[in-house]
Amino acid sequence: MATILITGACGQLGSELTAELRKKYGSDSVVASDVREANDQIGEGPFEQLDVMDARRLDEVTEKYNIRIIYHLAALLSASAEKNIDLAWKLNMDGLLNVLKLARDKQIDRVFWPSSIAVFGPDAKKDGTPQNSPANPTTVYGITKVAGEQWCAYFHKKFGVDVRSLRYPGLIGYKSLPGGGTTDYAVDIYHKALAGETFNCFLERDSALPMMYMEDAVKATIDLMEADSEKITVRTSYNVSAISFTPEQIAASIRQKISDFDISYEPDYRQDIAASWPDSIDDSQARADWGWRHAFSLDKMTDDILTNLPAIAEKIS
Ligand code: SER
Repeated sequence: MATILITGACGQLGSELTAELRKKYGSDSVVASDVREANDQIGEGPFEQLDVMDARRLDEVTEKYNIRIIYHLAALLSASAEKNIDLAWKLNMDGLLNVLKLARDKQIDRVFWPSSIAVFGPDAKKDGTPQNSPANPTTVYGITKVAGEQWCAYFHKKFGVDVRSLRYPGLIGYKSLPGGGTTDYAVDIYHKALAGETFNCFLERDSALPMMYMEDAVKATIDLMEADSEKITVRTSYNVSAISFTPEQIAASIRQKISDFDISYEPDYRQDIAASWPDSIDDSQARADWGWRHAFSLDKMTDDILTNLPAIAEKIS
């Protein structure tokens, strides 16, 4: 198996993707890296502390392990990006360009880079946003994702870099914590429900957003990376979708299991970010091109999280 490098491996998606790739391809085939120190969630295997803005160090790690595939996840998410626009632009753009240039120069076999529903803004259709809707975001994070998608398409067309990408919706898992995103409330809410606390939501009760359970997100990522190159017709980034719900609907789903769960609402600046994004996404292109299917509904996800989170809640909080 070709050796894989994951950047941002200690993040919410990175931890779970690293663990799954190690299970699938063997621990030694997957080099985890992060600007932070290693965490327990990524499992046993090689780890390198790496700042993706440092092109020389990225090159050094790639040489050391003879890396052939890169999952480049290190980035600032939407809410953090609004608070630090300089760092968001620098980290999200320089990091990606460093990886794409390295992939071109070292003839890396395949690169994965995450885009987001945040590429869409008020000009896009709100419900069932099509693949080719106008991408005019009103957030810094969205701007970095639109620019990143164009860089991916450019490096593919001009230099033949096999870079693939998904526009993730909000990702929800119980094995790792998110940080700095607008959709993070949908993870925190389960922790509060299990702790018997009232959840104070930073979005309005009826603010719908596209979401996806982590198990589906990890599967989508690996399926896309394993698809034959000729099946990949979108070289900016694919819409992918699973579920869509409001804070009120996720609270109702939790209440089916924890009947006295209580939620209150205190919208902040993140409500404006959420309001600029689609309510739901049309991902028929991904389903047609490489057979994407999701497995988890809202209630199935709630059931899985409330069953499994108690055993590990303390470890990850
Ligand atoms: N989940 C991300 C965020 O909220 C969107 O890609 O920032």
